[in-house]
Amino acid sequence: MSTRREFLAGSALAGLGVGLGSFSTIGCGGGQGNAEGEPNAEAGGISPAENPLRILILGGTAFLGPAQVDYALARGHEVTLFNRGRTNPHLFPDVEKLIGDRAEPDYSALEGHEWDAVIDNSANVASWLDDATQVLQDRAGRYLFVSSISAHSDNSTVGQTEDGPVFSEEDYNDAVASGAGLGAAFGPNKAQAERLTFRAFGDRGIVVRPGLIVGPMDNSGRFTYWPVRIDRGGEVLAPGDGNDLTQIVDVRDLSKFMVHLVEQEQSGTFNATGPESPMTMAEMLAGIRSVTSTPVTITWVHADFLREHEVGGWMEMPCWVYPSPETAGFSAYDCTKAINAGLAFRPLAETARDTLAWWKSLPEEQQALRTGIDPEKEANILRVWSERSA
Ligand SMILES: NC(=O)c1ccc[n+]([C@@H]2O[C@H](COP(=O)([O-])OP(=O)(O)OC[C@H]3O[C@@H](n4cnc5c(N)ncnc54)[C@H](OP(=O)(O)O)[C@@H]3O)[C@@H](O)[C@H]2O)c1
Repeated sequence: MSTRREFLAGSALAGLGVGLGSFSTIGCGGGQGNAEGEPNAEAGGISPAENPLRILILGGTAFLGPAQVDYALARGHEVTLFNRGRTNPHLFPDVEKLIGDRAEPDYSALEGHEWDAVIDNSANVASWLDDATQVLQDRAGRYLFVSSISAHSDNSTVGQTEDGPVFSEEDYNDAVASGAGLGAAFGPNKAQAERLTFRAFGDRGIVVRPGLIVGPMDNSGRFTYWPVRIDRGGEVLAPGDGNDLTQIVDVRDLSKFMVHLVEQEQSGTFNATGPESPMTMAEMLAGIRSVTSTPVTITWVHADFLREHEVGGWMEMPCWVYPSPETAGFSAYDCTKAINAGLAFRPLAETARDTLAWWKSLPEEQQALRTGIDPEKEANILRVWSERSA
């Protein structure tokens, strides 16, 4: 097994270029919203919370935030957003918005306010968390930090729980000293931010480590590629033999879980991805296929062949990484603790159907996906693969 620093320097996962979650926050031009610029409205049927809370959401307007706001409002909580007012400023006109820039940092807009709970979505850099917790530790009851499964430093073990190794303070300091970009430094920053959460808030701190978050309003396209591609029909290039595991969590299920954690005054760390039982790539693509009637064939192409033809895991073949001893546990995290605390998963078909419907509702110029193999390259590889296997 490689050491954590070797992992940082050059492992298959660092080679993914981005950590989980780095698409929709810092440096991103902002979420796309749907065609009407509306958030991820959930169907009704949500009962109000017994004790409405004042919840401050740091961020709140790109992808995860809107689903949290929707759910928190439906539960009757009072929501305040804190951001720069750049990403989807048209969302939630009736919600209180405080403006400030965490990169500066300028938290003056928070002065004179108090909250029962904070949900921090926007910190991918540990120093942002440090600044915010200093400002908020006497103004807020509970602090939920949205970390990432990428805080784990070792992806070789199948079934890792929250207690599995995470990047150390030394790893974080090394990453800062080396000037590593956010892609490589994402995990160390998240792990450091987790420590800072508990340092400031103690047992009033909550850390949630999502895996790949998917669903309507995901402007990274990482899961969206598959419903869109399968709906386009024809022969679809799929990676490996179909038996590799994958993990995803619907943004609405995750948001509901996070709001429940603060309602229940929980504390501690939760790995949060799904589904509840292991899912292979073949099962995921079959589930997605069930929401479209377009004629389609799925062709599984051996990983070695894909490597030979320079097809990238994760970015060109989303939700999938090249199988290796180092990545055996990458899509096999144990989320029992979160499930016992209330994380529940809607059917995959619902996620696929709503994601596709959201994507189709976008104006054409916003439909270009940022991930997934180029159609021409896909067709070429399928042709060479069929010639080779003929
Ligand atoms: N997507 C995934 O698969 C995934 C997986 C694991 C973990 N995560 C984590 O999930 C979290 C959720 O990300 P999200 O983008 O969906 O959250 P979000 O709360 O919907 O959006 C991000 C917010 O951050 C604000 N923001 C950005 N730069 C800022 C700054 N300098 N100062 C103040 N506010 C700023 C943006 O508004 P303004 O631009 O208007 O400031 C926006 O409201 C991230 O921490 C990410 O690492 C994501």
